[in-house]
Amino acid sequence: MRKTLLFALAVLLFAGCAKQNSNMGNPSIETIMTRVSVRQFTGGKISAEQIDTLLRAAMAAPSAINKQPWAFIVVTDETLIERLGEALPSSRCSNHPACAIVPCGDMSKAIEGTGRDFWIHDVSAATENLLLAAHSMGLGAVWTGVYPGMDRVAATREILNLPEHIIPLCIVPVGYPAEQPAVKDKYTPENIHYNRW
Ligand SMILES: Cc1cc2nc3c(=O)[nH]c(=O)nc-3n(C[C@H](O)[C@H](O)[C@H](O)COP(=O)(O)O)c2cc1C
Repeated sequence: MRKTLLFALAVLLFAGCAKQNSNMGNPSIETIMTRVSVRQFTGGKISAEQIDTLLRAAMAAPSAINKQPWAFIVVTDETLIERLGEALPSSRCSNHPACAIVPCGDMSKAIEGTGRDFWIHDVSAATENLLLAAHSMGLGAVWTGVYPGMDRVAATREILNLPEHIIPLCIVPVGYPAEQPAVKDKYTPENIHYNRW
C-alpha cells in the first residue's frame, strides 16, 4: 500500500515537471525560430496594453554592467509615422503600421570611456526582445536600421525632437501583419567552431 502510494506520488511529480518544462521551453524556442520581418501591415490599431508588453519585453534585455542605457520613443501619431516613412523609406513606416517604436541609446546612462559603445549591444538586445515579443503576440514588426547612418540619425532626430544625448538605433514599425513571409532557415553548420577556429 505504502509502495503504491509512493509510486503514484513519483508519477505525479514527474508528470508535473514534464508539463512545466514543455510549457516553459517549447513555445519560447518556437517563437525564436518562426520570427520573420514583417513589412506590410493592415493599419489595425494595437492597444496600450500591447505596447506596454512590448516595452516591458524590450527592457527585460541584458545590458553591460546592467546600465540599461536606453530610451524608447513610441510613435502613435499618424502624421509623425508618415513623416518617418517619407524621410526614411526603408523604415517601412509608410506601410500602415499601428505604431513605430524607436529604440534609442541614452548617452547620459552609457558607460563612460572605452565602454561607451556597449550601448549599441544593449539597445540591440532590447530590440530583438521587442521583435520576439511582437511575434509571440501575433503582431508583425521589422528592425530597420538608423544608426550609424548619420543622415538617418539626423532625420529621425529632427522628426522626433530628440535631444543630443539620445541616439536612435533603429525604427521598428509594429502592427497586424498584412503578409506572411516564409521563415528562412539560416542554420549554417559551417559558422560553428568548437574550441578553436
Ligand atoms: C541592423 C539591421 C538593419 C536592418 N535594416 C532594415 C531596413 O532598413 N529595412 C528593412 O526592411 N529591413 C531591415 N532589416 C531587416 C533584415 O532585412 C532582415 O532581418 C533580414 O533580411 C532577415 O530576415 P528575417 O528578419 O525575416 O529573418 C534590418 C535588420 C537589422 C538587424
